[in-house]
Amino acid sequence: MSEIFTKVAELKEKILSDLKEVKDELSLKSFQETHMSKKSALSQLMSEIRNLVGEEKTKFGQAMNDARSAVQTAFQAKQKEIQEKAIAMKLEREKIDITLPSYNYKLGGINPFYLIQDEIIDTFVSIGYEVKEGPDVETDYYNFERMNIPADHPAREMQDSLYINPTTLLRTHTSPEQAHAMDEKQGKPLMMICPGKTYRRDDDDATHSHQFGQVEGLVVGKGITMANLKATLELFVRRMFGEKREVRFRGSYFPFTEPSVEVDISCMNCGGKGCSMCKGTGFIEILGAGMVHPNVLKMSGYDPSVYSGFAFGVGIERVAMLRYGIDDIRKFYQGDVRFIEQFIRK
Ligand code: DAH
Repeated sequence: MSEIFTKVAELKEKILSDLKEVKDELSLKSFQETHMSKKSALSQLMSEIRNLVGEEKTKFGQAMNDARSAVQTAFQAKQKEIQEKAIAMKLEREKIDITLPSYNYKLGGINPFYLIQDEIIDTFVSIGYEVKEGPDVETDYYNFERMNIPADHPAREMQDSLYINPTTLLRTHTSPEQAHAMDEKQGKPLMMICPGKTYRRDDDDATHSHQFGQVEGLVVGKGITMANLKATLELFVRRMFGEKREVRFRGSYFPFTEPSVEVDISCMNCGGKGCSMCKGTGFIEILGAGMVHPNVLKMSGYDPSVYSGFAFGVGIERVAMLRYGIDDIRKFYQGDVRFIEQFIRK
């Protein structure tokens, strides 16, 4: 009776060796039909059980189970292997060759106005300033009154303005954002800049435009002095124009600061010797600044005997014109591609 067991063993070996030949899904399927269906040799061999009795019947049953589960396990392993191979082949087929040259895209430029505005913002953010935005359409009250420029003050005429109605106008400077910032902080210390557009009824020529950009700056706290103003603006100017720039503070007048200064840098064209760019003076004016006027602090709810502060205002186009040697402010607003495409963000 032992030949029946030999038969089981031989059949198992034959099936497993057939499985070794299986290489793809198609042959795996036909293997499954041949060796794992009801009509397979293995299933048919099972019918032999009826000729057996007692211990042999049990042993045969066990041998058949072992053979079946060996085939099942090997089949599953093969199935997994074939699936993985198929995925690997698909990945290989769909691989993108990133070393191929790409299309020749033309890189657009960025208006130098925004290159410089972003650089100014980055500089002040890096030393802890908040960035604020204010409205372009402003009330007479914030644009002038709160900046210590009452009605009939001659400084109003210098900013001859674009009015929407008798009490509303396009802001003539970003300085009113000082008042908005202080209103918002309600007596607490602050450090902020506000970049934005400003408008004046100006004749448009190479250095004047009815619309231009400014960045306002304001620091208010206890014990803020002119030394803080000087250190801050020296740092700013040297970051924008290079460490070698000489910085000069010159007494000036603004209604909202006392004392007021104008800040000049040594001419980058002649290095300070005097040329047509600096009109022979060796220096170029770059911004206005000063210690916040006590009236401005008072109107904003800050006690000037406790708090002090400094403020500054920088013209964005002016900085850009000096940095890039742009000779006409109108170029910022004409949208000429030949101009813009020269400026790419580093
Ligand atoms: N608002 C001034 C202008 O438009 C610029 C300015 C000067 C702003 C001095 C300031 C400052 O904050 O302190 O001409």
